[in-house]
Amino acid sequence: MSMKGLLFAVLLLYCFVASQGDPIFDVLKYGASGNGQTDDSQAFVKAWKDVCEARNGYPTLLVPKGRTFLLQPTAFQGPCNSPSINFKVQGTLMAPKSVNEWKWPSSDKGAWLQFSYIKGLVLDGRGLFDGQGAPWWDCFKKSQCHDRPRAISFHACEGLKINKVTVIDTPGGHISLNGCNGSIVSNINLLAPKDSPNTDGLGVSGSSNVTIRDSTMKVGDDCVVINGGSYMNISRIFCGPGHGISIGSLGIGGTYGAVEEIHVRNCTFTGSSNGARIKTWEGGFGYVRKVTFEEIILQDVQTPVLIDQHYSTYQATADNQKAIKISDITYRNFRGTSALEEAVKLMCDKNVGCTNLVLDDIKITSSDPKMKTNATCSNAHGTSSASNIPQVSCLLK
Ligand SMILES: *[C@@H]1O[C@H](CO)[C@@H](O)[C@H](O)[C@H]1NC(C)=O
Ligand SMILES: *[C@@H]1O[C@H](CO)[C@@H](O)[C@H](O)[C@H]1NC(C)=O
Ligand SMILES: *[C@@H]1O[C@H](CO)[C@@H](O)[C@H](O)[C@H]1NC(C)=O
Ligand SMILES: *[C@@H]1O[C@H](CO)[C@@H](O)[C@H](O)[C@H]1NC(C)=O
Ligand SMILES: *[C@@H]1O[C@H](CO)[C@@H](O)[C@H](O)[C@H]1NC(C)=O
Repeated sequence: MSMKGLLFAVLLLYCFVASQGDPIFDVLKYGASGNGQTDDSQAFVKAWKDVCEARNGYPTLLVPKGRTFLLQPTAFQGPCNSPSINFKVQGTLMAPKSVNEWKWPSSDKGAWLQFSYIKGLVLDGRGLFDGQGAPWWDCFKKSQCHDRPRAISFHACEGLKINKVTVIDTPGGHISLNGCNGSIVSNINLLAPKDSPNTDGLGVSGSSNVTIRDSTMKVGDDCVVINGGSYMNISRIFCGPGHGISIGSLGIGGTYGAVEEIHVRNCTFTGSSNGARIKTWEGGFGYVRKVTFEEIILQDVQTPVLIDQHYSTYQATADNQKAIKISDITYRNFRGTSALEEAVKLMCDKNVGCTNLVLDDIKITSSDPKMKTNATCSNAHGTSSASNIPQVSCLLK
């Protein structure tokens, strides 16, 4: 075949494939009302079944814009036939309005929307997930509702992408990833009031090769929390209000915890209680190692740098000889202000301790121009450059 002929054939083939189009499964075609009042869960379940069974193209479950869909807790499960699936939310998904109205389809009450065993899932569309958390927070504050669902959970996925979605007012944490290797989370907004209890932003556990970038989290607890896993790059996150980007807590109740190769870069913390935080429970075992926090901007952050290897308040039964080992943690190029004097706090266990902590190019001054910042350590080993503000002279060799 001539070159021209070949090009022509390729073009024809392309037109053929393109004309097939990617199959779109619009929830309105499955009976969803989108009026914000009627329960639309069954329409989503039926649409999902077809999306998951589709074999060709890039099957898309479409939640159209300009409408609000009331959903009960719903599970979207794989494995699916297509190697990649789009869950495109352009409109608003809303949880039931009161705690009593939540109806669970199974005994697993972990999250409002649960995605599991799906490969190549892409959640995007610029839409809104409204978790209707306020009645849950009230219930929690009255010491009822101890266990509150997350808004969205992802379990056992591979190559997950979450891009351009907003989640507000979740009962518990906003989004969790568990067992999700190769995930990319970008351009998301997670928003809940500062005083909403334990409304973590993005929680990651048991996952490797994760990118989290270009996102805003204004929440009542940790903005990002890593509870296990490795090889994660976290960059350009705007956090606050919130409790910072945290590793742990790990090791609760004497359990194993392991986190390594976590790289946080170019993140901004505003009015948060912490910036770079590592917390582990007394009595646990395992490690946190090879973690870097770099190019960090701070504005009025209470304790920008915190390690707490004794994150325990009531563990009477904990084996206090044990602790999760913390090593090779680097803090470099921090700029900004701290709301409390103790800007750097490195509190390590007397038996296990922390080793090779490196603090370099740190300039954290007090939010109050009349005050100076300071650093506190116990059993912390490492090095700090002489030009750091505050001076971290409490580190052991
Ligand atoms: C990491 O994840 C990306 C994005 O999903 C993927 O392309 C890449 O192959 C993964 N790398 C490894 C080492 O698993
Ligand atoms: C995820 O990555 C970890 C670490 O690389 C590996 O041990 C695990 O088998 C992977 N899981 C899956 C489901 O691919
Ligand atoms: C994280 O960034 C480093 C350095 O840029 C890169 O080598 C690595 O592949 C990245 N890892 C992930 C999970 O994106
Ligand atoms: C850091 O992030 C800000 C805000 O997203 C961006 O403007 C800037 O270019 C980034 N800097 C580096 C060194 O990546
Ligand atoms: C740092 O400041 C706090 C609060 O004023 C004070 O309690 C603490 O003793 C100071 N620590 C050091 C090491 O100066």
